[in-house]
Amino acid sequence: ADVFTYDPGFTSTAACESAITYIDGDKGELWYRGYPIEQLATSSHYLEVCYLLMQGELPNAAQLADFEERITRHTMVHEQMHYFFRGFRRDSHPMATMVGVVGAMSAFYHDSTDITDPMQREIASMRMIAKLPTIAAMAYKYSIGQPFVYPQNDLSYAANFLHMCFSVPAEKYVVDPALARAMDLIFTLHADHEQNASTSTVRLAGSSGANPFACIAAGIACLWGPAHGGANQAALEMLEEIGTVDRIPEYIAKAKDKDDPFRLMGFGHRVYKNFDPRAKVMKESADEVLSLLGIENNETLKVAKELERIALEDDYFIEKKLYPNVDFYSGIILSAMGFPTSMFTPIFALSRTVGWVSQWKEMIGDPELKIGRPRQLYIGEGRRDYVDLKSR
Ligand code: CMC
Repeated sequence: ADVFTYDPGFTSTAACESAITYIDGDKGELWYRGYPIEQLATSSHYLEVCYLLMQGELPNAAQLADFEERITRHTMVHEQMHYFFRGFRRDSHPMATMVGVVGAMSAFYHDSTDITDPMQREIASMRMIAKLPTIAAMAYKYSIGQPFVYPQNDLSYAANFLHMCFSVPAEKYVVDPALARAMDLIFTLHADHEQNASTSTVRLAGSSGANPFACIAAGIACLWGPAHGGANQAALEMLEEIGTVDRIPEYIAKAKDKDDPFRLMGFGHRVYKNFDPRAKVMKESADEVLSLLGIENNETLKVAKELERIALEDDYFIEKKLYPNVDFYSGIILSAMGFPTSMFTPIFALSRTVGWVSQWKEMIGDPELKIGRPRQLYIGEGRRDYVDLKSR
């Protein structure tokens, strides 16, 4: 019989070669195409990072201008899509709507099924990066019963997203540049993270040659879970439930209790056994955004900082190497900006779209591409004979 390596959760299996993102979990390092995330967070911006992830090198000024122009040209979604949205229950979670709408894009762009053509792959990728903010904002507007807001192409990528989420026809909405910068930073920090569950899902779906929009929809579905992207929503809800600093020890005790399934959301990571470098940047940004908005005494931020301090001194968390991850502070910023918790994971999804399409393109462009097909260790019944219904 065949002998297989048994590796549940793929803790030690490399499923591909990739030149896009590097993580050193022990040191707490993250690089996109060799550039440390801290440098990109301070000196670059999201669309430049998108170019870097997709093309492998930082763009020069002309290349960047051309890339931005091409992305901006694709921000609108087909008007017929508006009817598609209306088929969802009005209180649908925006992630549920996004899984459906992005999947349905495969019906709008069936030309993208010719993934053997590098041009088509490129166009499909650009469309996705351009349209995901529009779709996420539409899912939000739909969930709160406000009219859809069309993209405004003279705004930056991040400012346009804030505009589509917060503008209403009755009032003039002016995007605060500092908030647009904070939004852009959140996009940058989430742009890629090597072979996480949703990216692996996109690769597996794509390995069969499926339509790229359908593959990204599969990634969005996987990201939704609370152990993955859904953790940002769960983390803020947890911090709000704790509510005040004096209740932290009770929650630390629950997290340590073997008989209690409760976990500290926004803590721990499969790869990082040290501080998640994205969480460090996010924590600084949370301080900046809250002071910008004049709410630096925000109780939730106090609870988060104190929870982090107590956990990092606790033997349980030290032994298991559990540190805050990217989701721990992002929710505080998003909530201060005015987003409800249900929008946190959609924002993660639109930011990660560039990572998904870059990884998908890398895979499809590989001449050695094989369909992803894991094996199993069968633990079911041995061969047995069918028993007629009357005799059962
Ligand atoms: N709180 C309390 N205990 C924890 C936590 C936590 N957040 N995370 C892990 N542990 C314990 C876990 O109980 C286990 O203990 P034991 O060895 O005694 O059974 C040990 O640490 C190892 O945990 P694991 O579940 O085997 O580790 P994993 O690599 O399979 O899981 C994880 C990684 C991120 C799913 C997990 O740490 C977790 O559930 N964290 C909370 C959810 C979260 O914040 N997810 C976001 C991840 S980062 C970005 C993203 O993907 O969105």
